[in-house]
Amino acid sequence: MKILLSESQLQAGIVDLAGRLRARYEQRPITIVAIMTGSLVFLADLIRRLDMPLHISLIQASSYRGGTTSGDLSLSSTMMLDITGRDCLLLDDIFDTGKTLSRILDWMWQQQPASVTTAVLLNKVGQSRVAVRPDYSVFDIPNEFVVGYGLDYDDLYRNLPYVGVMEAEDLRQHASGR
Ligand code: IMP
Ligand code: MG
Repeated sequence: MKILLSESQLQAGIVDLAGRLRARYEQRPITIVAIMTGSLVFLADLIRRLDMPLHISLIQASSYRGGTTSGDLSLSSTMMLDITGRDCLLLDDIFDTGKTLSRILDWMWQQQPASVTTAVLLNKVGQSRVAVRPDYSVFDIPNEFVVGYGLDYDDLYRNLPYVGVMEAEDLRQHASGR
């Protein structure tokens, strides 16, 4: 595995983001809407650096990518709170084409929150296919498939404490089920 962002780089980035959010919201209560499962670790680390009153609301997004078209996104909102009239902070692990964030933003606005701010841990530079951009992105990364710190390949590797790029040897090990 090639390490792209080390544990200490990730923590420094999160401290910086938390500082900006604390300045933005001060002690106003917010509702964090975290896109599962990828933003789980990001969420857990970020909230411990915030000190305003906050609610945590979870939404599950799964995309079905078949053939050459990037397919439909299905949303499951059983762990969502009522966000009507709330100041919301939408979190995701990575902004790639941007379709996930854009779809979920549209869905959130239908529920008439007071405001929505978006923050992603990683931004894959140059890949966006949508008009919207995250308000905050902690790290810009090149167009490589990354795992760790919440991000998965085939639902594995989310527990790595760093963000890494899988190399040929990792892919071989993965394929052989190790
Ligand atoms: P988008 O809708 O194309 O912006 O993709 C966002 C979603 O795709 C993220 O929530 C991730 O779950 C997944 N994704 C995109 N790029 C990567 C990657 O490099 N590693 C792991 N997951 C990724
Ligand atoms: Mg995801």
